Amino acid sequence: MQISSSLSVSFDEVNTELFHILPNSNLSIVFRFLRPGDQSEVKTLCQDWFPIEYPDKWYDDIVQNKKYFALAACDTHTQNIVGLIVANILLLGHCNREDQQILNKNFTLRTSACYILTLGVIKEYRRQGLASILFENLLATLTKYDTCKVIYLHVLFSNKQAIEFYESKLFQRRVHLPYYYLIKHEYLDAYCFARYINGGYPPYTFSDFLSNAWACLMRANPCHLLYTIRNFVKNKFLDTDSYQRASSYKQISHII
Ligand SMILES: CC(C)(COP(=O)(O)OP(=O)(O)OC[C@H]1O[C@@H](n2cnc3c(N)ncnc32)[C@H](O)[C@@H]1OP(=O)(O)O)[C@@H](O)C(=O)NCCC(=O)NCCS
Repeated sequence: MQISSSLSVSFDEVNTELFHILPNSNLSIVFRFLRPGDQSEVKTLCQDWFPIEYPDKWYDDIVQNKKYFALAACDTHTQNIVGLIVANILLLGHCNREDQQILNKNFTLRTSACYILTLGVIKEYRRQGLASILFENLLATLTKYDTCKVIYLHVLFSNKQAIEFYESKLFQRRVHLPYYYLIKHEYLDAYCFARYINGGYPPYTFSDFLSNAWACLMRANPCHLLYTIRNFVKNKFLDTDSYQRASSYKQISHII
């Protein structure tokens, strides 16, 4: 979980159809935003999905505060919540320092980013496209906020199903965060995954440089090659943005 201030964006529309029938099970699902009174149900679900504890205040916050995109999928028969996504928009400058590396330095720290705090589906409803629908709704909403350039999240390094899910949604593994989670007295690594939207893009890496240089060589255009080298050096070493992106994790994390 990441505590940060957010932009005053209010999510008040759901783009999905009111009902959705899950193809494999014929179950009918209705989507709605969280509301006061959902706290204990959401807490029970999160305790089942995640090995980390959230404070009660966090549950109060996500069901009440309109700054969160907190969309629930409910079984129409039982009215129980069976899936949930919670996200909010914040300025890049308000993200954890190590996460600020996800966007290229051409984007200032006043650029907006969307952080997914929670995404989960109860076991019996998995692999039927429910998390996909929740995510696609968030994505559709965010494309309206042209200033939001990236969606990102943290995932435990060993959470293979979540990693597969995010990769299927075109997220890229951007930052390795050693010892990020403390779970049952053990420090475990996490990854920061990012999906670029609305023209956002990641920092240039050495492998980008090599492939660009290779493409230039293939075209035998020395001017273009020099231009690429110049851009790489400028972006990597000479950026004098008044906001320094010194990362507290610089010593131990790296861009993948
Ligand atoms: C990750 C999670 C939200 C996926 O929910 P879901 O409703 O089953 O996901 P979807 O059915 O929309 O899956 C979409 C795609 O993601 C991938 N995927 C999802 N679960 C997968 C799994 N267990 N193994 C491999 N790929 C998986 C597949 O590509 C899938 O498409 P397909 O079914 O056509 O192959 C769910 O497994 C979950 O709640 N896990 C526990 C909570 C959690 O770890 N949340 C993420 C925290 S960062």
